[in-house]
Amino acid sequence: MNKLLLKGGTLVSARGTKKADVLISGEKIVAVGKHLAADAQEISVSGKLIFPGFIDAHTHFDLEVSDTVTADDFEAGTKSAIAGGVTTVVDFATQNKGETLTDALNNWHMKAFANSSCDYAFHMAISDWREDIKKELPAMFEQGVTSFKVYMIYDAMELSDKAIYELMTELKQYGGIVGCHSENSGIIGKLREEAIARGDTAPVFHPRTRPDYTEAEAINRFLSIAKAADAPCIVVHLSTKAGYEEILRARQNGVKVYVETCPQYLLLDDSVYRNSFDESAKYICSPPLRKPEDNRALWNGLKAGNIDTVSTDHCSFTLEQKRAGESDFTKIPNGMPGVETRAMLMYTYGVKKHRISLPQMCAYLSENPARLYGMYPKKGAIKAGSDADLVVFNPKGNGVISAKNCHSKCGYTPFENVKTLGGIERVYLRGKLVCSDNDIILENSGRFITRGKVKL
Ligand code: URP
Ligand code: ZN
Ligand code: ZN
Repeated sequence: MNKLLLKGGTLVSARGTKKADVLISGEKIVAVGKHLAADAQEISVSGKLIFPGFIDAHTHFDLEVSDTVTADDFEAGTKSAIAGGVTTVVDFATQNKGETLTDALNNWHMKAFANSSCDYAFHMAISDWREDIKKELPAMFEQGVTSFKVYMIYDAMELSDKAIYELMTELKQYGGIVGCHSENSGIIGKLREEAIARGDTAPVFHPRTRPDYTEAEAINRFLSIAKAADAPCIVVHLSTKAGYEEILRARQNGVKVYVETCPQYLLLDDSVYRNSFDESAKYICSPPLRKPEDNRALWNGLKAGNIDTVSTDHCSFTLEQKRAGESDFTKIPNGMPGVETRAMLMYTYGVKKHRISLPQMCAYLSENPARLYGMYPKKGAIKAGSDADLVVFNPKGNGVISAKNCHSKCGYTPFENVKTLGGIERVYLRGKLVCSDNDIILENSGRFITRGKVKL
């Protein structure tokens, strides 16, 4: 068996840092410590930080939406992922109305199989809650799908409060969990209609028709459903201070809620929508970018440990695709790329700005998603027995983000020209070097990961 010894690095975990060597045999870490086996190929990582491979638990690759399909399929999206140090993505297998969950899962397996350069797992997004769907849930667990997403908005996806309650009570039996896209569809739908009727068709009306209280109201309702069902739940892509306050209140009332946010809600604000159509359309996502005070509240939430994960909601469209909404902002496909830039942004603007610690970065990008989504300690840990998914990170590097260096097919990044500190030097996926200094070394060696229950 091929053995590698990463020697002289500083290992990062959610609890702290320590100097230790990592011995890899085949696909697994077999020992962590000093004076390990002599019969291994030695690689000096002196002066480097070693993270457990990052996990992005919120991507949409090869997703059909708004009469188009995301620019990044699994092939491009997972190359983008490994260039960003991401060794596992959890993508959203998405049920179209009329389909069974088995149809949706098979469909996503076909999209990802043999096309993935990082490991991958699936959440199941349910758009059509029926009696026969309820009966399919055990089959999802048997196939390693243990987390589900519901939407409170979007005609193609919206579930009623009753359906969400039924799903939650059902999932409790199996140890599954529901994440929710929380926006009030009634208010937003009407505000959008009124804006278009007035002739307010520019991208700036996207955030104006999705005010912060529409997220807060939906979060409050989702958490009330979780309380009624006495079930754990996840708020995904939290974007507002008002929503964050609802979460803190619900926790005080005994609701077991986990929270995800994304770099765009930490680092960008709605001033970007004042620019030209092309410049604004890049940033059209839902929920929309908010205000600087929302950014600050989310950073404070991370610092205090009240937010559990930072994912990306990578859902990319080219500018040409975005131009479908040139005369009507409601027709702009929603979403932006992010899987490639998250770690650099969180290191530079989180750790180096003292908004979060290095162990917290490891918790939010690796260990917590592994635990929350039933992959720990196979993923998310540098321990004997864990998969040898590792990121060799140079804390001394610096660079500038630019689409020309990114692997996404969407052609731009929301963080163009943003300066970064540190650098992802090497990425190992189950013991194999897959990316080195932004060059993809090994393609399509990703594997489907079956998942168990929440272990946070
Ligand atoms: O605008 C976004 N975020 N699109 C992706 C789908 C979703 O709501 O997560
Ligand atoms: Zn969503
Ligand atoms: Zn999403």
